[in-house]
Amino acid sequence: MQPRQRRFLSIVVGVVVVGFIVLQVIPFKQRTNPPVTLQIAWDSPQTETLVRNACFDCHSNETRWLWYSAIAPVRWLLVDHVEDGRDAMNFSTGDLELDEIVKEIERGAMPPAYYTPLHPEANLTSTQRGQLIAGLRASLANLPGGEGEREGDGDEG
Ligand code: HEC
Repeated sequence: MQPRQRRFLSIVVGVVVVGFIVLQVIPFKQRTNPPVTLQIAWDSPQTETLVRNACFDCHSNETRWLWYSAIAPVRWLLVDHVEDGRDAMNFSTGDLELDEIVKEIERGAMPPAYYTPLHPEANLTSTQRGQLIAGLRASLANLPGGEGEREGDGDEG
């Protein structure tokens, strides 16, 4: 390799390395776990384990942020995604629509298919799906805004 080529290559590598480091210190899309304001009385430890394993990373304020979620730009994508999930439904703050939740689990849409390869504990068998649905029905029925109070909100498509 010519000295000029070598110099060019080290500049490129340097820019990439410095750029990567700069990305890490940009205070953009920080990972958060805001306070939990809803205490759900789970009907059994089994229900709690299933829902924590399968749903909580995206639908609670108790997200398990794994090591790679610290690294930009992966962090930006994951934080964005968790924000979307929390906006749609959040087990830590309430406003849970049991029928909607059951429907998503039954049709296999939740947890999303792209999530389970990296999170095998969220890859529920059909038996576990049944247990989760029964457990959620039992646990969420008594929540304020849970069973019963769903009609008439009007912002659903
Ligand atoms: C990897 C992240 C992730 C996991 C894990 C996950 N969800 Fe979601 N979920 C989302 C996102 C993002 C949305 C909002 C966008 C959408 O509808 O796809 C969502 C939306 C929803 C909605 C609202 C659907 C609608 O149309 O309004 C329900 C209900 C739901 N999820 C239930 C669950 C349940 C129950 C589990 C666990 C069995 C679960 N999700 C696991 C990411 C996730």
